[in-house]
Amino acid sequence: MYGFKWIFLDVRPSSIFSAASPQAERIRSLTAGFLAAAAAILLLVVVLTVLFAIRYRSGRRPKEPEQVSGNRRLELAMIGVPLLLVTGFFFWSMRTMNAVLPDRGQHRPDVIITGRQWFWQASYPGTGVMTANEIHLPVGRRLLLQLNAGDVIHDWWVPALGGKMDMIPGVDNYLWVTIRETGIYEGACSEFCGQEHAWMRIRVVAESEEDYARWLVAEGAVARSPFDTGARVARDTLAQAGAPLFLSATCGSCHRVAGTAANGVVGPDLTHFAVRQTMLAGMQPNDSEHVAAWLADPQRIKPGAHMPRFILPPDSIRALTAYLEQLK
Ligand code: CUA
Repeated sequence: MYGFKWIFLDVRPSSIFSAASPQAERIRSLTAGFLAAAAAILLLVVVLTVLFAIRYRSGRRPKEPEQVSGNRRLELAMIGVPLLLVTGFFFWSMRTMNAVLPDRGQHRPDVIITGRQWFWQASYPGTGVMTANEIHLPVGRRLLLQLNAGDVIHDWWVPALGGKMDMIPGVDNYLWVTIRETGIYEGACSEFCGQEHAWMRIRVVAESEEDYARWLVAEGAVARSPFDTGARVARDTLAQAGAPLFLSATCGSCHRVAGTAANGVVGPDLTHFAVRQTMLAGMQPNDSEHVAAWLADPQRIKPGAHMPRFILPPDSIRALTAYLEQLK
Protein backbone atom coordinates (compact mmCIF):
# COMPACT_ATOMS: atom_id res chain seq x y z
CA MET A 1 0.00 0.00 0.00
CA TYR A 2 1.32 3.37 -0.97
CA GLY A 3 1.72 5.45 2.16
CA PHE A 4 1.25 9.11 2.84
CA LYS A 5 4.93 9.83 2.74
CA TRP A 6 4.54 12.76 0.38
CA ILE A 7 1.91 14.45 2.47
CA PHE A 8 4.04 17.25 3.79
CA LEU A 9 3.72 20.91 3.16
CA ASP A 10 6.44 20.86 0.56
CA VAL A 11 4.69 23.20 -1.84
CA ARG A 12 7.18 25.11 -3.99
CA PRO A 13 6.70 28.74 -5.01
CA SER A 14 4.69 28.97 -8.20
CA SER A 15 6.75 31.39 -10.25
CA ILE A 16 9.09 31.26 -13.22
CA PHE A 17 11.59 33.10 -11.03
CA SER A 18 11.69 29.98 -8.82
CA ALA A 19 12.62 27.79 -11.77
CA ALA A 20 12.94 24.12 -10.80
CA SER A 21 13.82 22.64 -14.18
CA PRO A 22 16.34 23.49 -16.92
CA GLN A 23 13.40 24.28 -19.20
CA ALA A 24 12.00 26.79 -16.71
CA GLU A 25 15.49 28.26 -16.29
CA ARG A 26 15.68 28.94 -20.01
CA ILE A 27 12.29 30.65 -19.88
CA ARG A 28 13.35 32.62 -16.83
CA SER A 29 16.48 33.90 -18.61
CA LEU A 30 14.47 34.92 -21.64
CA THR A 31 11.89 36.69 -19.46
CA ALA A 32 14.64 38.46 -17.51
CA GLY A 33 16.25 39.52 -20.80
CA PHE A 34 12.99 40.92 -22.12
CA LEU A 35 12.31 42.71 -18.83
CA ALA A 36 15.81 44.21 -18.73
CA ALA A 37 15.60 45.47 -22.33
CA ALA A 38 12.10 46.85 -21.83
CA ALA A 39 13.14 48.52 -18.57
CA ALA A 40 16.20 50.11 -20.20
CA ILE A 41 14.10 51.50 -23.05
CA LEU A 42 11.44 52.77 -20.65
CA LEU A 43 14.10 54.43 -18.52
CA LEU A 44 15.68 56.11 -21.56
CA VAL A 45 12.31 57.42 -22.77
CA VAL A 46 11.31 58.71 -19.33
CA VAL A 47 14.66 60.41 -18.71
CA LEU A 48 14.66 62.10 -22.13
CA THR A 49 11.03 63.18 -21.74
CA VAL A 50 11.76 64.80 -18.39
CA LEU A 51 14.99 66.42 -19.63
CA PHE A 52 13.31 67.85 -22.70
CA ALA A 53 10.29 69.02 -20.72
CA ILE A 54 12.59 71.01 -18.43
CA ARG A 55 14.97 72.25 -21.09
CA TYR A 56 12.40 73.40 -23.62
CA ARG A 57 9.58 74.49 -21.38
CA SER A 58 7.85 77.78 -22.25
CA GLY A 59 9.66 80.90 -21.19
CA ARG A 60 12.98 79.22 -21.80
CA ARG A 61 15.30 79.81 -24.77
CA PRO A 62 15.59 78.12 -27.15
CA LYS A 63 11.90 77.16 -27.20
CA GLU A 64 12.48 74.34 -29.68
CA PRO A 65 15.43 72.01 -30.13
CA GLU A 66 17.39 72.24 -33.35
CA GLN A 67 15.55 70.35 -36.13
CA VAL A 68 17.50 67.70 -38.00
CA SER A 69 16.60 66.13 -41.32
CA GLY A 70 18.37 63.84 -43.73
CA ASN A 71 20.98 62.67 -41.22
CA ARG A 72 21.91 59.22 -42.48
CA ARG A 73 23.76 58.14 -39.35
CA LEU A 74 20.87 59.06 -37.10
CA GLU A 75 18.39 57.30 -39.36
CA LEU A 76 20.50 54.17 -39.56
CA ALA A 77 20.75 54.10 -35.76
CA MET A 78 16.98 54.60 -35.41
CA ILE A 79 16.29 51.66 -37.69
CA GLY A 80 19.31 49.55 -36.76
CA VAL A 81 19.03 49.48 -32.98
CA PRO A 82 15.37 48.29 -32.85
CA LEU A 83 16.10 45.82 -35.66
CA LEU A 84 19.03 44.38 -33.73
CA LEU A 85 16.96 44.11 -30.56
CA VAL A 86 14.04 42.40 -32.31
CA THR A 87 16.34 40.03 -34.23
CA GLY A 88 18.28 39.17 -31.08
CA PHE A 89 15.14 38.39 -29.13
CA PHE A 90 13.71 36.43 -32.05
CA PHE A 91 16.66 34.03 -32.08
CA TRP A 92 16.81 33.89 -28.30
CA SER A 93 13.09 32.97 -28.26
CA MET A 94 13.61 30.31 -30.93
CA ARG A 95 16.45 28.73 -28.97
CA THR A 96 14.34 28.73 -25.81
CA MET A 97 11.45 27.09 -27.66
CA ASN A 98 13.82 24.43 -28.96
CA ALA A 99 14.87 23.59 -25.42
CA VAL A 100 11.30 23.35 -24.17
CA LEU A 101 9.49 21.72 -27.09
CA PRO A 102 10.36 18.31 -28.53
CA ASP A 103 11.27 17.84 -32.17
CA ARG A 104 8.70 16.57 -34.60
CA GLY A 105 8.38 12.81 -34.31
CA GLN A 106 9.47 12.57 -30.67
CA HIS A 107 6.11 11.40 -29.54
CA ARG A 108 6.54 8.79 -26.85
CA PRO A 109 5.09 10.58 -23.86
CA ASP A 110 5.76 9.64 -20.24
CA VAL A 111 2.37 10.99 -19.26
CA ILE A 112 -0.71 12.09 -21.17
CA ILE A 113 -2.58 14.94 -19.53
CA THR A 114 -6.05 15.90 -20.67
CA GLY A 115 -7.74 19.12 -19.64
CA ARG A 116 -11.44 18.79 -18.97
CA GLN A 117 -14.10 21.04 -17.48
CA TRP A 118 -12.80 21.37 -14.75
CA PHE A 119 -10.13 18.91 -13.82
CA TRP A 120 -6.96 17.31 -15.14
CA GLN A 121 -6.87 13.70 -16.16
CA ALA A 122 -3.50 12.00 -16.32
CA SER A 123 -2.70 8.61 -17.79
CA TYR A 124 0.67 6.90 -17.85
CA PRO A 125 1.23 5.00 -21.11
CA GLY A 126 2.23 1.38 -20.72
CA THR A 127 1.11 1.14 -17.10
CA GLY A 128 -2.68 1.37 -17.25
CA VAL A 129 -2.51 4.00 -14.50
CA MET A 130 -5.02 6.80 -14.63
CA THR A 131 -5.43 9.54 -12.09
CA ALA A 132 -6.70 13.10 -11.75
CA ASN A 133 -5.44 16.49 -10.62
CA GLU A 134 -2.47 15.36 -8.53
CA ILE A 135 0.02 14.33 -11.15
CA HIS A 136 3.00 12.34 -9.90
CA LEU A 137 6.26 12.61 -11.82
CA PRO A 138 9.79 11.41 -11.08
CA VAL A 139 12.68 13.84 -10.61
CA GLY A 140 16.01 13.75 -12.38
CA ARG A 141 15.07 12.71 -15.90
CA ARG A 142 13.68 14.45 -18.91
CA LEU A 143 9.98 13.68 -19.28
CA LEU A 144 7.76 14.23 -22.26
CA LEU A 145 4.29 15.52 -21.43
CA GLN A 146 1.55 15.03 -23.99
CA LEU A 147 -1.18 17.60 -23.56
CA ASN A 148 -4.65 17.61 -25.04
CA ALA A 149 -8.22 18.52 -24.16
CA GLY A 150 -11.43 16.57 -23.82
CA ASP A 151 -13.95 19.35 -24.39
CA VAL A 152 -12.84 22.97 -24.82
CA ILE A 153 -9.43 24.66 -24.96
CA HIS A 154 -7.50 24.59 -21.70
CA ASP A 155 -3.91 25.58 -21.02
CA TRP A 156 -1.28 23.79 -18.98
CA TRP A 157 1.03 25.95 -16.91
CA VAL A 158 3.14 25.02 -13.91
CA PRO A 159 5.44 28.08 -13.89
CA ALA A 160 8.29 26.59 -11.83
CA LEU A 161 8.53 23.61 -14.18
CA GLY A 162 8.67 25.43 -17.48
CA GLY A 163 6.58 25.93 -20.57
CA LYS A 164 2.97 26.93 -20.83
CA MET A 165 1.05 25.02 -23.46
CA ASP A 166 -2.43 25.21 -24.92
CA MET A 167 -4.50 22.04 -24.71
CA ILE A 168 -6.69 21.80 -27.78
CA PRO A 169 -9.37 19.20 -28.53
CA GLY A 170 -8.17 16.88 -31.28
CA VAL A 171 -4.58 18.14 -31.14
CA ASP A 172 -1.64 16.70 -29.21
CA ASN A 173 0.89 19.21 -27.91
CA TYR A 174 4.12 18.30 -26.18
CA LEU A 175 6.45 19.76 -23.55
CA TRP A 176 9.74 18.67 -22.03
CA VAL A 177 10.18 18.86 -18.30
CA THR A 178 13.12 17.76 -16.16
CA ILE A 179 12.26 18.29 -12.51
CA ARG A 180 15.32 18.88 -10.33
CA GLU A 181 13.94 18.52 -6.83
CA THR A 182 11.15 16.65 -5.11
CA GLY A 183 8.19 18.64 -3.86
CA ILE A 184 4.77 19.81 -4.87
CA TYR A 185 4.59 22.23 -7.76
CA GLU A 186 1.40 24.14 -8.34
CA GLY A 187 -0.06 25.52 -11.49
CA ALA A 188 -3.38 26.49 -13.00
CA CYS A 189 -5.34 26.39 -16.20
CA SER A 190 -4.28 29.48 -18.12
CA GLU A 191 -6.90 29.70 -20.83
CA PHE A 192 -10.44 30.71 -19.97
CA CYS A 193 -12.48 27.53 -20.27
CA GLY A 194 -15.81 28.35 -18.66
CA GLN A 195 -17.38 29.01 -15.31
CA GLU A 196 -14.91 27.10 -13.12
CA HIS A 197 -11.74 28.03 -14.99
CA ALA A 198 -10.36 29.61 -11.83
CA TRP A 199 -10.79 26.31 -9.97
CA MET A 200 -8.75 24.24 -12.31
CA ARG A 201 -5.57 23.99 -10.28
CA ILE A 202 -2.72 21.63 -11.02
CA ARG A 203 -0.57 19.87 -8.46
CA VAL A 204 2.52 18.10 -9.70
CA VAL A 205 3.91 15.76 -7.05
CA ALA A 206 7.60 15.33 -7.91
CA GLU A 207 9.20 12.38 -6.17
CA SER A 208 12.31 10.25 -6.26
CA GLU A 209 12.46 7.50 -8.84
CA GLU A 210 11.82 4.86 -6.11
CA ASP A 211 8.82 6.67 -4.65
CA TYR A 212 7.45 7.24 -8.12
CA ALA A 213 7.82 3.56 -9.03
CA ARG A 214 6.06 2.61 -5.79
CA TRP A 215 3.28 5.07 -6.53
CA LEU A 216 2.82 3.66 -10.05
CA VAL A 217 2.51 0.12 -8.71
CA ALA A 218 -0.02 1.22 -6.08
CA GLU A 219 -2.02 3.25 -8.60
CA GLY A 220 -1.98 0.39 -11.08
CA ALA A 221 -3.69 -1.92 -8.60
CA VAL A 222 -7.46 -2.26 -8.64
CA ALA A 223 -9.46 -0.34 -6.08
CA ARG A 224 -9.58 -1.50 -2.51
CA SER A 225 -12.87 -3.23 -1.82
CA PRO A 226 -14.46 -2.67 1.58
CA PHE A 227 -15.48 -6.35 1.53
CA ASP A 228 -11.86 -7.56 1.35
CA THR A 229 -11.07 -7.19 5.00
CA GLY A 230 -14.45 -8.00 6.49
CA ALA A 231 -16.43 -5.52 8.53
CA ARG A 232 -14.00 -4.99 11.35
CA VAL A 233 -14.98 -1.48 12.25
CA ALA A 234 -18.12 0.59 11.80
CA ARG A 235 -16.50 2.62 9.06
CA ASP A 236 -16.01 -0.54 6.98
CA THR A 237 -19.68 -1.48 7.40
CA LEU A 238 -20.61 1.95 6.14
CA ALA A 239 -18.24 1.61 3.20
CA GLN A 240 -19.74 -1.80 2.41
CA ALA A 241 -23.11 -0.10 2.14
CA GLY A 242 -21.56 2.60 -0.03
CA ALA A 243 -19.95 0.28 -2.61
CA PRO A 244 -23.19 -1.02 -4.21
CA LEU A 245 -24.76 2.40 -3.78
CA PHE A 246 -21.95 3.91 -5.85
CA LEU A 247 -23.07 1.75 -8.76
CA SER A 248 -26.83 1.95 -8.23
CA ALA A 249 -26.75 5.73 -7.88
CA THR A 250 -25.11 5.77 -11.36
CA CYS A 251 -21.82 7.30 -10.09
CA GLY A 252 -20.06 4.69 -12.22
CA SER A 253 -21.49 6.10 -15.44
CA CYS A 254 -19.15 9.06 -15.12
CA HIS A 255 -16.37 7.83 -12.82
CA ARG A 256 -14.00 4.92 -13.13
CA VAL A 257 -13.09 2.77 -10.15
CA ALA A 258 -10.78 0.08 -11.51
CA GLY A 259 -11.77 -3.43 -10.47
CA THR A 260 -15.47 -2.56 -10.23
CA ALA A 261 -18.24 -2.10 -12.79
CA ALA A 262 -17.70 1.68 -12.58
CA ASN A 263 -15.93 2.61 -15.79
CA GLY A 264 -17.14 6.09 -16.72
CA VAL A 265 -14.66 8.49 -18.24
CA VAL A 266 -16.59 11.77 -18.03
CA GLY A 267 -15.48 12.64 -14.51
CA PRO A 268 -12.20 12.11 -12.66
CA ASP A 269 -10.94 8.57 -12.12
CA LEU A 270 -11.64 7.63 -8.50
CA THR A 271 -9.77 4.30 -8.23
CA HIS A 272 -7.36 5.64 -5.59
CA PHE A 273 -9.26 8.81 -4.75
CA ALA A 274 -8.47 8.72 -1.02
CA VAL A 275 -4.71 8.95 -1.63
CA ARG A 276 -5.10 12.47 -3.00
CA GLN A 277 -4.63 15.41 -0.68
CA THR A 278 -7.08 17.64 -2.46
CA MET A 279 -10.29 17.30 -4.42
CA LEU A 280 -12.12 19.28 -7.13
CA ALA A 281 -8.87 20.26 -8.90
CA GLY A 282 -7.16 21.67 -5.86
CA MET A 283 -10.23 23.47 -4.56
CA GLN A 284 -10.66 21.73 -1.21
CA PRO A 285 -8.82 19.32 1.06
CA ASN A 286 -9.85 15.73 0.51
CA ASP A 287 -11.55 14.65 3.73
CA SER A 288 -14.88 13.15 4.79
CA GLU A 289 -16.42 16.50 5.58
CA HIS A 290 -15.69 17.99 2.15
CA VAL A 291 -16.63 14.81 0.28
CA ALA A 292 -19.99 14.66 2.09
CA ALA A 293 -20.70 18.33 1.38
CA TRP A 294 -19.83 17.82 -2.28
CA LEU A 295 -22.13 14.80 -2.62
CA ALA A 296 -24.95 16.71 -0.92
CA ASP A 297 -24.86 19.61 -3.36
CA PRO A 298 -22.08 19.89 -5.93
CA GLN A 299 -23.57 23.00 -7.55
CA ARG A 300 -23.34 24.96 -4.31
CA ILE A 301 -19.61 24.24 -4.07
CA LYS A 302 -18.54 24.40 -7.69
CA PRO A 303 -21.37 25.97 -9.70
CA GLY A 304 -21.39 24.79 -13.29
CA ALA A 305 -19.47 21.57 -12.58
CA HIS A 306 -20.81 18.65 -14.58
CA MET A 307 -21.62 16.65 -11.45
CA PRO A 308 -25.39 16.80 -10.93
CA ARG A 309 -27.14 17.07 -7.60
CA PHE A 310 -28.56 13.67 -6.77
CA ILE A 311 -30.66 14.61 -3.71
CA LEU A 312 -29.37 11.67 -1.67
CA PRO A 313 -30.60 10.95 1.84
CA PRO A 314 -28.01 11.67 4.58
CA ASP A 315 -27.47 7.92 5.20
CA SER A 316 -26.53 7.40 1.56
CA ILE A 317 -24.16 10.34 1.64
CA ARG A 318 -22.44 8.92 4.72
CA ALA A 319 -22.14 5.50 3.08
CA LEU A 320 -20.81 6.88 -0.21
CA THR A 321 -18.33 9.09 1.65
CA ALA A 322 -17.08 6.10 3.65
CA TYR A 323 -16.68 4.11 0.45
CA LEU A 324 -14.78 6.91 -1.35
CA GLU A 325 -12.53 7.63 1.61
CA GLN A 326 -11.29 4.03 1.73
CA LEU A 327 -10.29 4.01 -1.96
CA LYS A 328 -6.57 4.11 -1.21
CU1 CUA B 1 -9.37 24.85 -18.08
CU2 CUA B 1 -9.27 27.23 -17.97
